Amino acid sequence: MIVAIDGPSGTGKSSTSKAVAAKLGLSYLDTGAQYRAITWWMISNGVDVHDADAVANAAGKPVIVSGTDPARPTITVDGVDAAGPIRTEEVTSKVSAVSAVPEVRSLITELQRSIAKGAERGIVVEGRDIGTTVLPDADLKIFLTASPEARAARRSGELKGADVHATKQALIKRDAADSSRKTSPLAKADDAVEVDTTDLTLDQVIECVVTLVEEKR
Ligand code: C5P
Repeated sequence: MIVAIDGPSGTGKSSTSKAVAAKLGLSYLDTGAQYRAITWWMISNGVDVHDADAVANAAGKPVIVSGTDPARPTITVDGVDAAGPIRTEEVTSKVSAVSAVPEVRSLITELQRSIAKGAERGIVVEGRDIGTTVLPDADLKIFLTASPEARAARRSGELKGADVHATKQALIKRDAADSSRKTSPLAKADDAVEVDTTDLTLDQVIECVVTLVEEKR
């Protein structure tokens, strides 16, 4: 059972995907964390993230390893725990530039496919291009959406009181960059089920996705 969950930031993708995987005994992969990890490595190693050639040349250097237990997802870069550093504002503001570079996408896509293939119990994979590009044969594809206001309110809550207006502007900017890049942009697959989470609680979204998975099993 392969479940692809895509959508823009702040729609509840991570919380939903982790909870659904835990409930159904599936593995879990956060693909955004992998793009954040490679971005963190580029920043730490002095690579100019706006120089696409430099990013492309360095893309194969870091070794990124994702742990797929939904109760304790981990990510390391060259053996170093990157879970904290990949969530900084600097990484968040630079990740779209790095993830738009085709060489980065092809390396990370291969890594994602091999993790999904190796997940014997099945897996929930969350991201932006999972249903369209990474795993087009997924058993179930979900596309989560929510109004920009709801997404900004959730994100600023997670960031412990960050300014909602500034958060909304940053989200809109990142989604625009992710949706307009040439290589595998953020997009809903034609055969994905769209779930608008604006007026739903997290528990309601989880229940809705669990039901959709069970219908496919
Ligand atoms: O999901 P998260 O906000 O952690 O993703 C960070 C960034 O990683 C996104 O804004 C996007 O640029 C990139 N990403 C991507 N493709 C994916 C997952 C994330 O390009 N499948």
